[in-house]
Amino acid sequence: MKLNIAVLPGDGIGPEIVQQSVKVLTAVADRFDHDFYFEEAVVGAAAIDLLGNPLPDATLELCKNSDAVLFGAIGDPKYDNDPSAKVRPEQGLLKLRKELGLFANIRPVKAYDALIDRSPLKAENIKGADMVIFRELTGGIYFGEKSTSKDGQTASDLCTYSVTEIERIARLAFEAAKTRGKKVTLVDKANVLETSRLWRKTVTTLAEKEFPEIDLDFLFVDNAAMQMILNPKQFDVILTENMFGDIISDEASVIGGSIGLLESASVGAEVALFEPIHGSYPQAAGKGIANPVASILSAAMLLENFGLNAEALSIRKAVEMSIALNVCTPDINKDNHYSTSKVGDFLESVISDTENHMINN
Ligand code: IPM
Ligand code: MN
Repeated sequence: MKLNIAVLPGDGIGPEIVQQSVKVLTAVADRFDHDFYFEEAVVGAAAIDLLGNPLPDATLELCKNSDAVLFGAIGDPKYDNDPSAKVRPEQGLLKLRKELGLFANIRPVKAYDALIDRSPLKAENIKGADMVIFRELTGGIYFGEKSTSKDGQTASDLCTYSVTEIERIARLAFEAAKTRGKKVTLVDKANVLETSRLWRKTVTTLAEKEFPEIDLDFLFVDNAAMQMILNPKQFDVILTENMFGDIISDEASVIGGSIGLLESASVGAEVALFEPIHGSYPQAAGKGIANPVASILSAAMLLENFGLNAEALSIRKAVEMSIALNVCTPDINKDNHYSTSKVGDFLESVISDTENHMINN
């Protein structure tokens, strides 16, 4: 298969992790006889520095004309500490999601057996945890009207959702549940928020009409945050709005042992985008300590998106092998760690090794 992949490294550790994903995808292309073409473009703080715009037109055009987007990370502390900044790196990612119509962000979370003891959570509570979070990505408070009063004493972010926006992501979540544990948990704050009540009503009606075989339940987000830690095994598919999904997915990463392992796919229209759930981790940039696995597993999701399942599996198996052998960056392997690029090299060599039966079977 021929795939044109737009590569947007972004900020902080973005460039170094994405480089490992390109390395691994190239190994997959060689082994399985595909043609993957990579083209890079700037986004985020890197793009502001260069062109004054966190999402330059050329970057957006490249993404629209590609088959998929591989995204690194975004964010720079010099903007975080400047509340009056007019342009921010994050605007680049938000605009890109909106422009590409990426209304659903899919974030799988599972506990790797080899890492169970590294999680701060009790092993018996997390062993076997396996869920996927469907986070709405182009609506809600992230995209509502924003304003600050002239005297600077009041600010407002509007949270809005429509039935259409809720239904389209809910359908994807229910479809996923069909192939998994047949359970969807809607996380909301329906005891307080009008938008949450619309989510409950819409999702309940949809479930009754189109997905009667799926078990639907509801949790308020505060309780969900606690349940995520107390008993994550109760979850199969979590469906939630934009900001709640952002928050609980970072929390869920504790189950997996490191946020550096969590992959995601953002889908909706034609071109999908694949990005780790973690941020730009500026303190680690250039030090070779960032975990590339979240980005590499996002690349596996990219392959799955095109039905290249054996190819994706070769990446997943190689990652499992690296974890089992402790070929890991310091977030996981404190004492004897491998660098970002050495982890990439290891995965590349496992995938390229045609004698490797673990990958073959
Ligand atoms: C994420 C990030 C982004 C978000 C930021 C960088 C805008 O935290 O992808 O989870 O809040 O969506
Ligand atoms: Mn986030």
